Amino acid sequence: MKLCMIGTGYVGLVSGTCFADIGNEVICADTDKKKIENLNSGILPIYEPGLEEMVRRNVNDSRLKFSHNVPEAIKKSDIIFICVGTPTEKKTSNADLKYVFQVANTIKYNLNKYKIIVTKSTVPVTTGDKIETMLKKNKFKSSFEVVSNPEFLREGEAIRDFVVPDRVIVGAQSKKALRIMKSLYMPIIKKNSRFFSTSRRSAELIKYASNSFLATKISFINEISNLCEASGINIEDVSVGMGLDQRIGERFLRAGPGYGGSCFPKDTRAIVALAKKYKVNLSIVNSAIKSNKFRSKILLNRLIKITKNNIKNKNICFLGVTFKANTDDMRESPCLSLIPALIKKGAKIYYYDPTGAKKEIDKYKNVTFLEKIAEAIKKADLIIVHTEWNEFKQLNLKKLIKNKNVIIYDMRNIYSADKMKKNRIKYYSIGR
Ligand code: UGA
Repeated sequence: MKLCMIGTGYVGLVSGTCFADIGNEVICADTDKKKIENLNSGILPIYEPGLEEMVRRNVNDSRLKFSHNVPEAIKKSDIIFICVGTPTEKKTSNADLKYVFQVANTIKYNLNKYKIIVTKSTVPVTTGDKIETMLKKNKFKSSFEVVSNPEFLREGEAIRDFVVPDRVIVGAQSKKALRIMKSLYMPIIKKNSRFFSTSRRSAELIKYASNSFLATKISFINEISNLCEASGINIEDVSVGMGLDQRIGERFLRAGPGYGGSCFPKDTRAIVALAKKYKVNLSIVNSAIKSNKFRSKILLNRLIKITKNNIKNKNICFLGVTFKANTDDMRESPCLSLIPALIKKGAKIYYYDPTGAKKEIDKYKNVTFLEKIAEAIKKADLIIVHTEWNEFKQLNLKKLIKNKNVIIYDMRNIYSADKMKKNRIKYYSIGR
């Protein structure tokens, strides 16, 4: 099939490349000329394990193309995926749909034959209806269908999530569109994932409800980890014990520094704002948001306690600063509130991240990026394991640590407390 992805961020680039890999002709289009130039020279705008190689392979096989001529890409394609960002609207916390409607407007003028228009971006309920109303006035008077097909890709695991998804959700209003969408996903569905078709509005809500539920699960386990710390219980045992109940499930029960990224914070805010419009109070999601916001205060208080309120002039080393491992994404990373708070208390921050220096924190005084992990550890009075990269798990800390009084605060519980005790390293973690 001939597909066009509009927007070459995480969603568009990963989905487009994966669709090409299962045999479709795909144009990834973006109005950002520089981005397209880079992509045409093999430079990707994001870090995603395995993606670069997959892009190269599909470009070489002529199944994948990049273009900044969005109208032309629309005209040439049978299915158009809208994959642009839906950031939080500052004043209202709603999803800002200006990019989505800009794309819809471009489609309106280039709908030269029957096409399926798919929203892959996370969009509030009724966005599909609004796009449909816009497209009814299309220049060529062509027939079309607007379908919702939300993505469930995790950064860092996006290719795997695309190829072996738990489920594919398609919200279509006609049998024809549903049949076409099902045949597009057929090579993937065959690998045991479930294909669920529903109404367009339901599909739109499934995405928000899923992200909000997962965010709530994380806030829940983080609060239970507070209770574990206060009562001398190991959160890992509690998570395992709870997760064995299939109704609860073991995944997304890892306590940590709080959820971040480009999705959970934005989508929880947006669903609450959406519900407000319908005069519905989503008090549970609201509490999850508040709890996650408060998490940085809890972490800071623990740090104050651990250091006996002696943060001034301390060298604090962050291992990893992105919102989670296997990504270079800094959006809503928990360290973005923690680092300024520590600087305010007089700390000097050193950090190492496998994906390099980050402008989001380099802008602060007293923040230094170190290219070598050993150097960062050597300088530290306090090491904060902020992100769970595999390369941190294998460190020979006994050898690397030069300062005998160093303290480790492991916010991802990647190390064994017993091993640390044996090595006489002062060690603190989350909920244990
Ligand atoms: C999330 C969803 O998992 C995807 O299904 C969805 O498609 C995507 O948002 C999106 O809407 O585009 P992502 O933001 O990439 O994916 O990251 P996750 O792996 O879900 O992690 C989100 C946050 O929760 C991270 O800060 C992570 O550290 C935290 N987390 C996750 C925990 O603290 N504990 C856990 O057990 C799991």
